[in-house]
Amino acid sequence: MASEHDAHGASVLVASNRGPVSYTLRDDGALAARRGGGGLVSGLSAIGPGTDAVWVCAALGDGDREAVRRTGGRLDPDDTGGQRVRMLGIPPEVHGDAYNGIANSVLWFVHHMLFQTPVEPSFGAEFRAQWASYEAYNRAFAEALADDAGEGAAVLVQDYHLALVPGMLRALRPDLRIGHFSHTPWAPVDYFKLLPDDIARQLLRGMLGADRACFLTRRWADAFRACCDELLGGTGETRTGVHGLGADADFLRERSHRADVGERIGMLREQIGTDASGAPRRTIVRVDRTELSKNIVRGLLAFRGLLAERPDWRERVVHVAFAYPSRQDLAVYRSYMERVRQLADEINAEFGTDGWTPVLLHLEDDFARSLAAYRIADVALVNPIRDGMNLVAKEVPVVSDGGCALVLSREAGAYEELGEDALVVNPYDITATAQALHEALTMPDSERGERTKRLAAAATALPPSRWFLDQLAELRA
Ligand code: G6P
Repeated sequence: MASEHDAHGASVLVASNRGPVSYTLRDDGALAARRGGGGLVSGLSAIGPGTDAVWVCAALGDGDREAVRRTGGRLDPDDTGGQRVRMLGIPPEVHGDAYNGIANSVLWFVHHMLFQTPVEPSFGAEFRAQWASYEAYNRAFAEALADDAGEGAAVLVQDYHLALVPGMLRALRPDLRIGHFSHTPWAPVDYFKLLPDDIARQLLRGMLGADRACFLTRRWADAFRACCDELLGGTGETRTGVHGLGADADFLRERSHRADVGERIGMLREQIGTDASGAPRRTIVRVDRTELSKNIVRGLLAFRGLLAERPDWRERVVHVAFAYPSRQDLAVYRSYMERVRQLADEINAEFGTDGWTPVLLHLEDDFARSLAAYRIADVALVNPIRDGMNLVAKEVPVVSDGGCALVLSREAGAYEELGEDALVVNPYDITATAQALHEALTMPDSERGERTKRLAAAATALPPSRWFLDQLAELRA
């Protein structure tokens, strides 16, 4: 079987739900391609030009599906920056159940511990039907990878969307080297056991179909092994790996000094304004997807606490909160976004004055504006309930112009690498978070500068290129 793959098969393959490009269908019938960024994109570019690597991903919307219809799923390299991409046209109902139903409403919730357990989850007939779609969706990926892989190729499967792929692919192509990478935390055993036993085992076995199941930190890898021991009874050895992902310093430094970012710094400064002495107001920045696990609501409550408890800060500080739309098909995400919006309005109504808007909330995604905020922030607030790594915590110190104090949740993976120079908080403790914000705002400039330097060094120790090449080397070893 393998030999029929030799001639054209790729030697490296990546699989992820969201690919490096997405399409929108314009009114005139043309397709507009939009390229994404992120660690995988720059990691993959590290294997160099002229590579035969293939990236397999799912069509996510109508534009993507139209692109698949027109190209047969082998996308135009002009749209992808030269990367060979195979986009799978999975039926929308199947993809919807797998992505919204299982991946984002069950698996994401388990690993981030987001369930309101008195009422949810409940695993009945609807869940079982969605699970069948999750299996079908994983099978579509496994079959596409099996088709496109050359003999002995290395396949890097990404995240909780595709937990069953390694096992399925192993059965189709025993010759392949397969890695799975979880970009999320992994649930503690007792929480993972909320899942029906057969499903929990199927997930673990699916991932163990890989030669290596990899995680962003030791903590998540240990949790995964504990689940395997408990649910699979320690059958065989669980091969895990840990590969931290750092900020892409070269890209960020170059990108954050382009003209569009400069323009946005001007716009932000205008909105932030100056205090009574004419000095620019202090700025607390956060940048997130509007994501339940990011803890945006408690961040706003902490800022309100700061203004309530320490009236000195009124008129002198602004909280710049960028909360970009995410997973809006899910009602719970829509109402979370509404809550964020309401709370920002309440704080502005309670404390705002003619010349001062305490919370500047922006809900439309704008990468250049995010970089502008990184550059001018005095304080970055990164307070997730739980987070696989959190790259904002790593990007800010790299980009910061004048030094930025970092208030960081101990539940973010980044805490393991940045904990020493951050002000560390329990993300549920609003009082402590408000206190940390105060300390961050009053930190002497020299200390803030020193800490920022050390944070930037730690944050860039493992650039995406190394993250990717290390995994490849380990797989091939
Ligand atoms: C997390 C996940 C990624 C996912 C991203 C955005 O970082 O680990 O796999 O792509 O969130 O979420 P979305 O549902 O929009 O792809």
